[in-house]
Amino acid sequence: MSAVDARALLHGQRIVPVYTPGSVDEALAVARALNAGGIGAIEVTLRTPVAMEAIAAIARDVPGMHVGAGTVLDIEQMQGAKDAGATFIVSPGSSRELLYAAVERRIAYLPGVATGSEVMAALAAGHRLLKVFPAEAINALELIAAWRGPFAQVSFCPTGGIDAVRARDYLRLPNVACLGGSWLTPSDALRAGDWPRIEALAREAAALATD
Ligand code: 3PG
Repeated sequence: MSAVDARALLHGQRIVPVYTPGSVDEALAVARALNAGGIGAIEVTLRTPVAMEAIAAIARDVPGMHVGAGTVLDIEQMQGAKDAGATFIVSPGSSRELLYAAVERRIAYLPGVATGSEVMAALAAGHRLLKVFPAEAINALELIAAWRGPFAQVSFCPTGGIDAVRARDYLRLPNVACLGGSWLTPSDALRAGDWPRIEALAREAAALATD
């Protein structure tokens, strides 16, 4: 059995905002604002009790948005997120269990990697689009550029510490398919319910991806 092709699923989605939901209503407003700004995929982290419900609501009510689940640490969360409507699953790292569960359960999966050995383990399970985390802390710009040689068949999605300025540098690397970050959903904008600001940030990010 081969892994579901996450790269094909997220094709064209070069910016994938990482968002931790405060409530279901907030999540819907955020997803709509991001989508209105030209963003077509979102990673909702499972870091708050409302996260699964938020994923279900976005999957149901924001048709233009691919919704994924992030911070997935075990198989129960992986399956729960899929059942809630997540079309892709993201982890900050990877485990053998998750790498193979995603293949067996036909789930598009972006395991997290930070070393060549982790890339090899993910590749052995058939995964070809890998999250690189925490990108800025591990100098992922140089790391991903260096991985082009030995891992030519792999694409990367760096996240962690990336903002609109750094995004431009990462997007120039041919093996960066997409990248993620929470800079599109700043906490003060969430607190204030400032959806126009989130839409504006999305628009700016979407434009970066077409530069
Ligand atoms: C994460 O999973 O926390 C993401 O990588 C987001 O990182 P950021 O908040 O530094 O953008």
